[in-house]
Amino acid sequence: MKKIVVLISGRGSNFVAIQESALREDWEHSIGAKIVAVISNRPDAKGLELAKNYGIDALCVDHKAFDTREAFEEKLYEVVSQYEPDLIVLAGFMRILTAGFVDRLEGKILNIHPALLPSFKGLDTHQRAIDAGVRMAGTTVHFVTAALDGGAIIAQAAVPVLPSDDAHRLADRVLVYEHQIYARAVKACVTGKVRYENERAVMDDQTALELTLFGQI
Ligand code: GAR
Repeated sequence: MKKIVVLISGRGSNFVAIQESALREDWEHSIGAKIVAVISNRPDAKGLELAKNYGIDALCVDHKAFDTREAFEEKLYEVVSQYEPDLIVLAGFMRILTAGFVDRLEGKILNIHPALLPSFKGLDTHQRAIDAGVRMAGTTVHFVTAALDGGAIIAQAAVPVLPSDDAHRLADRVLVYEHQIYARAVKACVTGKVRYENERAVMDDQTALELTLFGQI
């Protein structure tokens, strides 16, 4: 069985979208994969409750309990490693992970970012997209490296920015597509359709098409 560990900081809607795909498509039997744990850096993350409701291990490694980022990452690494995960899925995990954590797991960590990378790395992506006057916003799933929001791109969804948008409306429109591409990207990685080789995301044309979405709503 391929084991997936999900890291969150809050709401957990991307985690739920992936878990719902896994249940709907019976990943345990169809591709031999399951989410084995959800770990939050915040004790009050709503996603932890949601994980418990699915009967999935829900744990917290509270970053505030550690004096340094290194100490937090060491503990996080220890807790994550206990599950011997094949894939670690950052789903709204709002702590920067440094080389000390990432380099030991390179090619095994995915992140979803609410912008069309390499544009709008970092925070406040939707407001910054509106302020920049771009016509297309979107979301990107990528492999995680020590470079912030900089690893190889796996999947992208593009959605229009409308003149009447504020950051919340745009975020809601993008989120619908986050949920679709993240589940697809996780599945593609778990089944080996997407591989991490020489710092690139390697896949065939058909897989690339399945991991590229254009949305309207
Ligand atoms: C999502 O929009 C995700 O793209 C974003 O946080 C939200 C989490 O929502 N992630 C980042 O900004 C990472 N830098 P969720 O907890 O409901 O999945």
